[in-house]
Amino acid sequence: HPALAVSRAALLPPPGGPGDAAEQELPVESRPFASYGSALHIALPQAPRAGQLLTLLIDYEAGEGPGVCWLSPEQTAGKQKPYMYTQGQAVLNRSFFPCFDTPSAKFTYSATVKVPEGFTAVMSATSWEKQKDNTFVFKMSQPIPSYLIALVVGDIVSADVGPRSRVWAEPCLIEAAKKEYDGVIEEFLVVGEKLFGPYVWGRYDILFMPPSFPFGGMENPCLTFVTPCLLAGDRSLVDVIIHEISHSWFGNLVTNATWGEFWLNEGFTMYAQRRISTEVYGLPYTCLEAATGRALLRQHMDATGEDHPLNKLRVVIEPGFCLFLGVNPDDTYNETPYEKGYCFVSYLAHLVGNQSKFDAFLQAYVNRFKFQSITADDTLGFFLEYFPELKAKGVDSIPGFEFDRWLNTPGWPPYLPDLSPGQQLMRPADELAELWAADSLNMEAIEAVDITGWRTYQLVYFLDQVLQKSPLPEGNVKRLSKMYPKISTAQNAELQLRWCQIVLKNNLEAEYSKVKDFLHSQGKQKYTLPLYRAMWAGSEATRALAMETFSATAPQLHVNVQNYVKKILGLAGAE
Ligand code: BES
Ligand code: ZN
Repeated sequence: HPALAVSRAALLPPPGGPGDAAEQELPVESRPFASYGSALHIALPQAPRAGQLLTLLIDYEAGEGPGVCWLSPEQTAGKQKPYMYTQGQAVLNRSFFPCFDTPSAKFTYSATVKVPEGFTAVMSATSWEKQKDNTFVFKMSQPIPSYLIALVVGDIVSADVGPRSRVWAEPCLIEAAKKEYDGVIEEFLVVGEKLFGPYVWGRYDILFMPPSFPFGGMENPCLTFVTPCLLAGDRSLVDVIIHEISHSWFGNLVTNATWGEFWLNEGFTMYAQRRISTEVYGLPYTCLEAATGRALLRQHMDATGEDHPLNKLRVVIEPGFCLFLGVNPDDTYNETPYEKGYCFVSYLAHLVGNQSKFDAFLQAYVNRFKFQSITADDTLGFFLEYFPELKAKGVDSIPGFEFDRWLNTPGWPPYLPDLSPGQQLMRPADELAELWAADSLNMEAIEAVDITGWRTYQLVYFLDQVLQKSPLPEGNVKRLSKMYPKISTAQNAELQLRWCQIVLKNNLEAEYSKVKDFLHSQGKQKYTLPLYRAMWAGSEATRALAMETFSATAPQLHVNVQNYVKKILGLAGAE
């Protein structure tokens, strides 16, 4: 990456050789590769033998690239001390350290990190130790791909929440963090191990990031990074934690070999997440959560067009040498690998027709490919090998449901898992949304529905229905807002996102300030971009709101998110 300054490379003498052997300086050269990085060429003195172990020393400086984020004290929760974090996925760690920045290569690592007094360093590592001079030594003893190496330095403290889990957060958030997840993490790990096999990473800790962290969660091994938006006070957003835990098997252990097969990470993880959720919270609740996922897929496909090339599971990624050619893997992040991927895995389970048989397959799959990087062909080949009777039946080529079609044809999933067990939770929400969409409101019927006991995802589902029917007849949303302060003044980020979308779609000017406040309060990409898209698609007034909000918040957004917003707003200089 242009932000990485490599100053020198040397070949170290082979271990066990003569003690006085010297390092050998090697010529270093950067060659063009892609708009998001170049190739580092290091010339060896002679061609190595196959299997020969070489140790290279590379001196470099890093810091200004997109993989390393520096926050000022104002951008933290405590507002006292600066903070730095790294985010590697998909192709940002090449600006953090020189590496084979592809998920197809796995390696162990160790790191020695010296930080100023009053700061703590943590990494995605199996072990760590604090030495003198505020120096932290980390070691990851399992092979992982480059994108899973992560570092945070900040004023952070920790609290135990389980036998192999603690939460990390800034001191002012640690009580809330502990309260949110005390005593609940272990059960997810135990259920995951029962379903998918041993948890190989030792600890499972959670780090609450500053509000500008662009993701809900990031599955850095041993240490998941999460948005502080998860601190809802009622554990209602714990599905994100279950998701990141599920990556311990799907993604971190069995890894997509290229970013074009990202659905292998995320689709299997969505499936695993919902298996764990079903075991812990039951089928009705899990189906409700899955229905909100399906609504996101619907919104995404409506916005991009079903035929968009990114709406295939297998995406073509060309590096490209300039800004206008090629596809940057980070630009392919959308709902398709998650929710269409989930549908495909559900379809495989449906072909098997028996949950415990399919669970056993998943466990065998993890065991077969653990610590490897694979493609969908490996996955599907193993599936057919594991179920020879299905292979004999030709299940990979059933017209309309061909595996090849799943992978290579854009569009709505040909098979949708049955979510009707969630009906008992969804029906009241469907009916209430129907009532609110009427031309003349039946207030008696509306008032007869008591939503005080509804769970967050029931409200989310209800709001998705309202959004889908929006704009509602004049005046309805205003009344809805008055009637349900629990929704319109919610502090739960998933509710805030939907409420803001409804406000914009219905031109409820009186509440535009909520959109602005929400965008000031956090910088998650999946919250930020849909709101800017909605503002830009709206009126003169919402466009002005978008411009005003962006100029105030841009410096606190992750640089990738900044660039995506610029693109939406048609601002020059967007990369
Ligand atoms: N690995 C992803 C986040 C990610 C994807 C970062 C692509 C960079 C590039 C993580 O596991 C994830 O999917 N997070 C979701 C959680 C949700 C699906 C429960 C998120 O951040 O919203
Ligand atoms: Zn994920």
